[in-house]
Amino acid sequence: MLGRKPGIEYKGEDIKKGAKILVQLMKQSANTVVLTGAGMDTESDIPDFRGKNGLWRNMDPRLVASIDSFYENYELFHEFYSARIKLLEDIKPHDGHYILANFERQGIIKSIATQNVSGLHHMAGNKKVYELHGNIKRVKCNQCNHEAELKDFLSKKNCNKCGNLLRPGVVLFGEALPNDVWALAENDINKCDLLIVIGTSLEVYPVNQFPKIANGKTAFLNNEDVSFDHEFDIKIIGKAKEILQELNARVK
Ligand code: APR
Repeated sequence: MLGRKPGIEYKGEDIKKGAKILVQLMKQSANTVVLTGAGMDTESDIPDFRGKNGLWRNMDPRLVASIDSFYENYELFHEFYSARIKLLEDIKPHDGHYILANFERQGIIKSIATQNVSGLHHMAGNKKVYELHGNIKRVKCNQCNHEAELKDFLSKKNCNKCGNLLRPGVVLFGEALPNDVWALAENDINKCDLLIVIGTSLEVYPVNQFPKIANGKTAFLNNEDVSFDHEFDIKIIGKAKEILQELNARVK
């Protein structure tokens, strides 16, 4: 018996109690998948988008992070992404990322589907990571998809194959997600016994549909509750790193 009814939030001093309940679900699950958002990276000093100091609090993403902005105002597009790339230059995974890498090594989780483009899950050692929104450090030509060097994008060089403009290999607003990555993540989430969602506002389609297509139980770990049309089996409201440390302490 899991004790408290599903869908109840555990927060504050109850985080430990919530972690104990979630660890029971993890132990009962033969196939756990994790879905992360920008809240997984803020404790590595990478701003999120819609949290209290989020990037989109001061900027309209359609002006700097959409395919239209790429075509209509490459200067501003380039300035925004260059600044983000420079910010990510010496970022490091935090303890929560390393805990997820250990969970994969111990077979506790099967894979991570992430909306984050920082590459921190790979850096921490996770092997099965589905980068649903791409990776900001992978630069390509917008026209012929030829891979290019990060420094060429930063110095505003054009594609050395076809001469067109370069861009980061991330999904821009107005673009479809990469089919192959989506299919892999969808397959894992469809089959999982437990989906653990960490650090996302669940505002962005289609990734926000994943908790609804998960056949197993679902858990929501976030520093704020979000209004969402899906009843999670358990919610733990707190910082990602702290909650993951509580899980790690009990999962052995
Ligand atoms: N611990 C737990 N939750 C946190 C933490 C933290 N340390 N820091 C922030 N959060 C929460 C925020 O309160 C917010 O609810 O994480 C959530 C992050 O939500 P968003 O900023 O909307 O990020 P995300 O859901 O990943 O955005 C999805 O939107 O702009 C696009 O492409 C971008 O991939 C991004 C997508």
